[in-house]
Amino acid sequence: MSLLDQPAFLALQGMKAQEQMLSLSERFAEDANRFSAFSVPFGEHMQVDFSRQLWSVEVKAQLCALARDMDLHTAIKALFGDNLFNHTEGRAALHTALRMPADASVNLKGTNVVPFVHHELARVKAFCQQVHAGDWCGFSGKTITDVVNIGIGGSDLGPAMVTDALACYHDQGIRAHFVSNMDGAQLAHVLQQVDAERTLFIVSSKTFSTDETMTNAHAARDWLLAVCGDATHVNKHFVAVSTNAKAVQAFGIGAEQMFEFWDWVGGRFSLWSAIGLPIALTLGFERFEQLLAGAHAMDEHVRDTTFEQNIPVLMALLSIWNINVLGLRSEGVFPYCHDLKRFPAYLQQLNMESNGKTVNNQGEKIAYNTGPIVWGEVGTNGQHAFFQLLHQGSQVVPGDFIGFARSGYDYPEHHRKLLGNMLAQAEAMAFGKDYDEVAKELTAEGLSALEVAKLAPYKVMEGNRPSTTILCDELTPYNLGALIAMYEHKTFVQGVLWNINSFDQWGVELGKKLAARLIDDLADDEETTAHDSATKGLIAQIKLWG
Ligand code: F6P
Repeated sequence: MSLLDQPAFLALQGMKAQEQMLSLSERFAEDANRFSAFSVPFGEHMQVDFSRQLWSVEVKAQLCALARDMDLHTAIKALFGDNLFNHTEGRAALHTALRMPADASVNLKGTNVVPFVHHELARVKAFCQQVHAGDWCGFSGKTITDVVNIGIGGSDLGPAMVTDALACYHDQGIRAHFVSNMDGAQLAHVLQQVDAERTLFIVSSKTFSTDETMTNAHAARDWLLAVCGDATHVNKHFVAVSTNAKAVQAFGIGAEQMFEFWDWVGGRFSLWSAIGLPIALTLGFERFEQLLAGAHAMDEHVRDTTFEQNIPVLMALLSIWNINVLGLRSEGVFPYCHDLKRFPAYLQQLNMESNGKTVNNQGEKIAYNTGPIVWGEVGTNGQHAFFQLLHQGSQVVPGDFIGFARSGYDYPEHHRKLLGNMLAQAEAMAFGKDYDEVAKELTAEGLSALEVAKLAPYKVMEGNRPSTTILCDELTPYNLGALIAMYEHKTFVQGVLWNINSFDQWGVELGKKLAARLIDDLADDEETTAHDSATKGLIAQIKLWG
């Protein structure tokens, strides 16, 4: 039965008008316990406050009923075992196995995959130890100081985001750099910063065929060869992380230098596998294990917690309420933490590549909205860019504020101000400022009645703009692992409720195919006839100027 036909969904639609009559100010005034009623703890280190969402106890109950009616329990259970969630590619989605303890068991077609996971983790650990101990050296016998991860999408965004986020823990003497883009500028900038004799390239690609990655990897190899002059040295400076052993070997990276993962790990869910190698190299393997432990704790939470207290489930249900009932189709994410500056980009791939779908699991076109536009920026920078629209714009955008009570940096005044700003923005979005308050303030400033009447309308903020606040004690590897897994599970649960395959990404294929043809068309001087007039016109102009 489609979401739209679910009795609980119809009930939610029926509640909309009544719910919209109550503002957040009224809801808080009516219920002194609203914060505790809608805040959910995750262990001792994280608390998620949903009280500033435009919902009530009744809406929450109905949303949980919807999840039950749609058999979310069974879907969540299946995420931890043999499943075929990615049915269009004939694959399971088993990223939760990547953070299971060694004695756990996850059977896929009769085989327990956990031993494979731990075998590969042990190889990552041994490799990190070799590099950190200075036992792994470059061609001239010098130790490694820089690693350059060459990958894109899930083979870049996760490790890059986590490595950045945990900058406080970089104590292994290794700097990490990331090259993803087809624009050679990025590779050029990174190569300017590193010494070939001390640099290790990690070519990360699930398929080992992604054009951006292979183009960058070949260019990096040429750069290295120009310095060392001997192809046999490539193995000292290149390792690969992939599912495609044949292609890795064809590139010239030996089996010993290849770390494996599996087709049951989606690219955007892969940072927990050997794709996390740059993380382990910069932070140390033990901290990578803490990251996995945090994610595993969130896995247990989503699997074992009743929906009413289940953070990822509630986040996903709120998306259904906001997107499908209230019509709020975009979601902001605002980490008040500079080291999480890549988090919005990471979330964009996680959520938009997963849930940007319009065909359901039965192959039918669906008649409701699915994946929201996810975007964001760190606070306080965002406040001086787009927050104006959040407060007074014609579109209401629900946002997630993410903050940490303690900072890893020794600037206590900065941190107090940072958190003060985060709380202020969420408060301003929720409660705004009405005409009377604005008029009172302007009068107190000495403005005449006429001046007040003229200026006040511009200063009124309606408020009633929903947000969630995710508060942690500190940005530790464990907490970050839990935070990321929380959003992974939110994404998955959304997909279940929307009845879509969150694990394929066919939409990116057409662009890739067209690009291959256009790259050829740009290479010669022939006039191209195979395209529309806009493409032909632009090709001609590029050739003229190029
Ligand atoms: O953008 C499409 C995509 O397939 C992503 O899903 C994936 O994370 C990325 O490209 C990179 O793919 P690969 O790891 O195979 O190079």
